[in-house]
Amino acid sequence: MTKVLITGCNGQLGNELQRIIREGRAEIGPIDPIWSAAEVVPTDVDTLDITDADAVSRFCEEGRFDVIVNCAAMTNVDGCEVMEDVAHKVNALAPRNLARAAQATGARIVQVSTDYVFPGTDPRPRVETDEPAPISAYGRTKLDGERLVAEACERHLIMRTAWLYGYVGHNFVRTMMGLGETHDHVTVVDDQMGNPTSANDLAYEILKVAATDGYGIYHCTNEGTCSWADFAAAIMEGAGLDCEVCRCTSDEYAAAHPDAAHRPAFSSLDNAHLAATVGDEMRPWHDALDSFLGNLNKMEG
Ligand SMILES: NC(=O)c1ccc[n+]([C@@H]2O[C@H](COP(=O)([O-])OP(=O)(O)OC[C@H]3O[C@@H](n4cnc5c(N)ncnc54)[C@H](OP(=O)(O)O)[C@@H]3O)[C@@H](O)[C@H]2O)c1
Repeated sequence: MTKVLITGCNGQLGNELQRIIREGRAEIGPIDPIWSAAEVVPTDVDTLDITDADAVSRFCEEGRFDVIVNCAAMTNVDGCEVMEDVAHKVNALAPRNLARAAQATGARIVQVSTDYVFPGTDPRPRVETDEPAPISAYGRTKLDGERLVAEACERHLIMRTAWLYGYVGHNFVRTMMGLGETHDHVTVVDDQMGNPTSANDLAYEILKVAATDGYGIYHCTNEGTCSWADFAAAIMEGAGLDCEVCRCTSDEYAAAHPDAAHRPAFSSLDNAHLAATVGDEMRPWHDALDSFLGNLNKMEG
C-alpha cells in the first residue's frame, strides 16, 4: 500500500488533497485507485513542524513514506516581506529538510511553488524552462525552496501554481465574498494578471503526476488569464452579491498600502509540461470558480 505524508494538511491545498483521496475523486474526475487505497498521514505545524530538521528526519525514518507532499508554507506575501528570515526558514530550509528525509528513505517529494518566482515583466504566459527572477520575499524564498529540494532529492516534483483558493482557509474568493456581503463597492487592482486556481483541481493534477515516474518542474493553474479585478467581479456575480468592483492600478494600491510587497504585473503560467506528459485537464478558471461557488453554497446552505 502506498504511504503518503501530507505536511501543512490544515491549509487550503492540504485539505483538498485529503478530501479527494478520501472521496476517490476530484471535481474534474476520479483519481488513480492507488491513491484511494493509500495510507495518508496528515500533519501540520502542531504535529510536525517542518522547520525542525531532526523531527522531520525521525518522522520520515519511522513513517517510511512513498510520497511526501509538502503543502506547508508561509503564504502571507506581505508578511514574508517584513519577515524574510522566517519566510526563508519555512519556504526554503524546511522543504530541504523534507527533501533530505525523502532522499534518505527512498521517498518521492512534491514541493508546491508559485507563479511569484517570475518577475511578471513580460506579458506572456511562462513555461517551466523560463528563467525565474522573483521581485518579492515570498517569491525569493519559494524559489530557494525549489532549488534546495531539487538539490537534495533526486525524485522531486515542483508544482508551481497561482492565486489558489479552496473550501477551507483564507483566500481571495472568501475575502471578496465577505466584503461583498458588507460593502456596496470594493476597490481591486486591475493591472496584475494571473490565473485563479482551484485547490481541488490542483490536488487532482498533483496526484496524477505523482502516480508517474515524472520529475522536475510543472506549472499547474486553471486555464485563462485575468486581473484581480476581473476575478473579483466574477466572484460577486457568481455569488449573487450586489457589490460594485471599482478598478485601481498597482501604484494607487501601493500608495494606500505602503508596506505591501511588490507583485508581478503578469504572472500567468502555461501548463506546458503537464500538457506534454500526463495531460492538462485543468479547467478554465471561470468554470472552476462556478463549481466552487455552487459547492460552497450547498455546503453552507
Ligand atoms: N495561496 C496561494 O494563493 C498560493 C499561490 C501560489 C502558490 N501557493 C503555494 O501552494 C502551497 C499551498 O498553499 P495554501 O494556500 O494551501 O497554504 P495555506 O492555506 O497557507 O496552508 C499552509 C499550511 O502550512 C502550515 N505551516 C506553516 N508553517 C509550518 C511549519 N513550520 N510546519 C508545518 N506546517 C506549517 C500552516 O499552518 P498555519 O496556518 O498555522 O501557519 C498552514 O496550515 C504552498 O506551497 C504555497 O506557497 C499558494
